[in-house]
Amino acid sequence: MTPDIYIGVMSGTSLDGIDVAAIRINDQFSFLAADCVKLPDDLRQQILMLTQPGNNEIELMGRLDNVLGKLFADAVKQLISSSNIDIKKIAAVGCHGQTIRHRPEAGFTLQIGDPNTIAEQTGLTTIADFRRRDLANGGQGAPLVPAFHNKLFRSAETNRVILNIGGMANITVLPANPSSLVTGFDTGPGNILSDAWIHEHSGASFDEDGNWARAGAVNQELLQHLLNLPFFSEAAPKSTGREQFHIDWIKQVIQENKLQIIAVDVQATLLELTACTIADAFNAQHLADPELYICGGGVHNSALLQRLQELTNTVHIATTEELGLHPDWVEASAFAWLAHQTLNKLTGNLPSVTGAAHERILGGIYQA
Ligand SMILES: Nc1ncnc2c1ncn2[C@@H]1O[C@H](COP(=O)(O)OP(=O)(O)O)[C@@H](O)[C@H]1O
Ligand SMILES: [Mg+2]
Repeated sequence: MTPDIYIGVMSGTSLDGIDVAAIRINDQFSFLAADCVKLPDDLRQQILMLTQPGNNEIELMGRLDNVLGKLFADAVKQLISSSNIDIKKIAAVGCHGQTIRHRPEAGFTLQIGDPNTIAEQTGLTTIADFRRRDLANGGQGAPLVPAFHNKLFRSAETNRVILNIGGMANITVLPANPSSLVTGFDTGPGNILSDAWIHEHSGASFDEDGNWARAGAVNQELLQHLLNLPFFSEAAPKSTGREQFHIDWIKQVIQENKLQIIAVDVQATLLELTACTIADAFNAQHLADPELYICGGGVHNSALLQRLQELTNTVHIATTEELGLHPDWVEASAFAWLAHQTLNKLTGNLPSVTGAAHERILGGIYQA
């Protein structure tokens, strides 16, 4: 019996939790089980500190690398026990790691969560550090999920776009024509700014179903100032993160332009910013009769989904559930698939997406 189950671990920019997914890959793909383990609040705060430059980062990084390695290992073990998966059938764990800095323009990206600790504590071969090989080959190191979207969700009949709304938002364009290249890029903020704004005003970690945003009115002046950020008009390949999109940027734009806005209207404007920048990126593809499938935590925000429906020129909009994979588990499943690729000496990046010169086998292997 050859092990054919892969476990993916994804801890995204939102810092809402650690997603773990188990998938089986033989001649077919099957989703087996998944779980989300919450990140302790104090740890979340410390990770946030590392995502912005500050004092004594190396000490903090070393400690969090270790703590996160243990947490990722625990999340994997918990999924194995709650799903009754036979550990002997597991081929590998693919761990994205926690991004603490993503600076492709400076030639680096950094994810932590020690894979040595994961391999040691789970007894499973662990694959990590997926992004840096693509960067070394001239790419952005991101987004990496489009290759998985291409594998799982492409159709020969219809043009499809897969939209992931996590902390950041990214789209993958899957043309029906098999000879057309897959493209994809970060469109900008997903939930990250809305999360931060409501957190500062009420302590909530996110705007449940977009209800607070719904209660406000979009401030067109603020929206236009935010849309002027050069990132939005840059051509792909492009990727971004907390370095560029953080709450101080919003406060600074409000202050510099002396805007008088009540907090609830800022929330409405941030939701509109996410919806507009996604819709602009989608509409700019000029695809014939495109279908739009959405995944990531943003699918739980019906105010955002409603705006996307209004703003995008699509013939059909749904979540990835309709394509057979629950929207909460697409990213973690993608890293399980990337582990499968690496272990089988197969490439994982798409140069047409990341801008790398070549397809490459990604990541480092930490043997069981
Ligand atoms: N019920 C909900 N209502 C509104 N937003 C939600 C809800 N559930 C999750 N979210 C949003 O989804 C985010 C998490 O999405 P996720 O795809 O895990 O992002 P990441 O990959 O960056 O961790 C949360 O921070 C929150 O903004
Ligand atoms: Mg998450």
